[in-house]
Amino acid sequence: MEGMRAAVVGTGFIGRVHARSARLAGARLVGVAGSSPASGERAAAELHAERAFASGDAAVEADDVDVVHIATPNHLHEPLALKALAAGKHVVCEKPVALDGAGAQRLADAAASAGRVVAVPFVYRFHPTVREARARVAAGELGRLRLLHGSYQQDWLLSPDDVNWRVDAALGGPSRAFADIGSHWCDLVEFVSGVRVARLVAHTAVAVPERAAVAASGAVTFGGPSSSSERQAVDTEDVALVMFETDSGALGSMLVSQISAGRKNRLWFELDGEEAAVAFDQEEPERLWIGGRERSLIVDRDAAHMAPDAARLSLLPPGHAQGYHDCFDLFVADAYTAMAATVPGAAGGSAATGGPGDLPDGLPLIADGLRAARITDAVLASAREKRWIEVPT
Ligand SMILES: NC(=O)c1ccc[n+]([C@@H]2O[C@H](COP(=O)([O-])OP(=O)(O)OC[C@H]3O[C@@H](n4cnc5c(N)ncnc54)[C@H](O)[C@@H]3O)[C@@H](O)[C@H]2O)c1
Repeated sequence: MEGMRAAVVGTGFIGRVHARSARLAGARLVGVAGSSPASGERAAAELHAERAFASGDAAVEADDVDVVHIATPNHLHEPLALKALAAGKHVVCEKPVALDGAGAQRLADAAASAGRVVAVPFVYRFHPTVREARARVAAGELGRLRLLHGSYQQDWLLSPDDVNWRVDAALGGPSRAFADIGSHWCDLVEFVSGVRVARLVAHTAVAVPERAAVAASGAVTFGGPSSSSERQAVDTEDVALVMFETDSGALGSMLVSQISAGRKNRLWFELDGEEAAVAFDQEEPERLWIGGRERSLIVDRDAAHMAPDAARLSLLPPGHAQGYHDCFDLFVADAYTAMAATVPGAAGGSAATGGPGDLPDGLPLIADGLRAARITDAVLASAREKRWIEVPT
């Protein structure tokens, strides 16, 4: 996408990944903004951005920016994305796109009336093996799906000394573990299975009731224990257990945890159909397990033997491992393709607004961010009210 001019707001773990992927997709990194002018300057130098913006607001309003990547703590996503859309920019907005479903709906409405693309980095969709699983389900190889189950476990908040801005509900939102990683699980499983969570019952738990206090700046970075002796009460969940039924009548369950020792980023799911099953493990993403009654198969990522959509995302010969960065690069490239169709003057683009038919297959958009926010709302409501909750479609 030669000519796309990108700004990145938030320069922590994922902001840096955004900046890298934007460049690889052919964008100019016009500028970056951090939590203060000084942190923006430091990041601009480290990331070789053309300049530092004094603030996120300055980045979203800059005349020479086509797309704003929002990679800040969660409470800033909706306000920054609304300002970016009002200024005519496309947006890549991190999940959760807003702190609740109402906020995500406001963002979806604003994107529709601005005629701009809001892409949401549910990037696990970009593993070729995930596309292969999706193609096999769509082709009916598994038969009707009966069970959808799995977990998303991490351990970086195991100890009371582990802290992060996500723990503070004012910065992270009312849901922590579920909004942060359960949302990825639901997006991925709905994407692969083609069915939707229709109703659910959830139990959430705070396993570590007191943690080191979140720094007032909210700038404690991902994965770091705090040196502070100050403690604060924790009111967002470390764990969520969810049972659900889908619109097709399949049953499901998931465990979401940020306190599972030894599990770094283990997003795992299995779909059990009438004829066969499929399982995917994000930490072993080059292989897919296909379960059969007589024999089971391990399918390696290999473009020559995969569905066209999986082959399209297979960048390297089999055995030369692809991973998270590749997913992010592929996501940003597809997002820019969709945006270029609506940006006059961007390479290959036209003034016409691209319709859904013009979008790259599987690109997660604001509708998917809204979907995740609605499921998160339902999980919190069910845990609070101790009953089944219908999830709006
Ligand atoms: N899609 C994914 O796979 C994925 C992975 C990780 C994180 N995320 C999302 O990305 C977001 C950031 O997470 P992270 O892990 O990079 O956090 P992080 O703490 O590493 O980085 C957050 C950055 O935002 C900056 N910041 C804080 N206030 C700011 C402000 N007012 N203006 C501009 N910048 C500000 C901080 O200085 C920090 O650099 C979160 O919403 C998270 O959910 C998504």
